Amino acid sequence: MHPLCIRFCALRRVNPSRDSGAGVIFTVAIDGPAAAGKGTIGRAIAARFGFAHLDTGLLYRAVGAKGGDPVQAAQSLTPGDLARDDLRTLAAGQAASVVAVDPEVRAALIAFQRRFARADGGAVLDGRDIGTVICPEAEVKLYVTASAETRAHRRWLEVGGDEARVLSDVVERDRRDSERAEAPLKRAADAHVIDTSALSAEAAVAVAVGLVEAALARGRG
Ligand code: DC
Repeated sequence: MHPLCIRFCALRRVNPSRDSGAGVIFTVAIDGPAAAGKGTIGRAIAARFGFAHLDTGLLYRAVGAKGGDPVQAAQSLTPGDLARDDLRTLAAGQAASVVAVDPEVRAALIAFQRRFARADGGAVLDGRDIGTVICPEAEVKLYVTASAETRAHRRWLEVGGDEARVLSDVVERDRRDSERAEAPLKRAADAHVIDTSALSAEAAVAVAVGLVEAALARGRG
């Protein structure tokens, strides 16, 4: 079993804050390009419904940051690797996007993500291939997007530096993530699109919460 699974599966069993979702297999799959608002929406949905949340970009960022053979890094990733404080930089994002092209790296991380998605209690995962590859059976699929300029401006507010460079970084990463052969970034045919270019975070979260509530109600009905 992957080292991440041992730890995260144990956490899911003992975390009392997740009691409200106990007994439910329900996955919210969120995909989209960098800095579109996936994380904000994912965290808010997880908190609102008591679901577990996995930022899958962090897995690839941790693999890229570890250095050495990326396949070995992916196979041996531990919770400590995900807790590094240098994973949010532009450089870590680029390194993640580069290692994410490798099918063996992706294969090493699939089982953990699938188990997380379908574990008892409900789960929200955000990334690039959640609704298409990791959990095509997800009860709710969201494709969260925004113009490249909007996304770059948001990222620039977080990381600072030269805004034009942040924009070219975002555009380069979008291109690599969508053009790779294995599990490229693309909207699942049954995903709801949320374009956050002209939406506040609160408004985007409200749209997503409404879609999850509707799916939960259909499941009960
Ligand atoms: O979501 P993020 O910006 O933290 O992701 C960093 C990189 O990781 C992204 O550019 C591509 C890769 N990634 C991926 O290939 N598949 C995922 N499910 C999540 C991220």
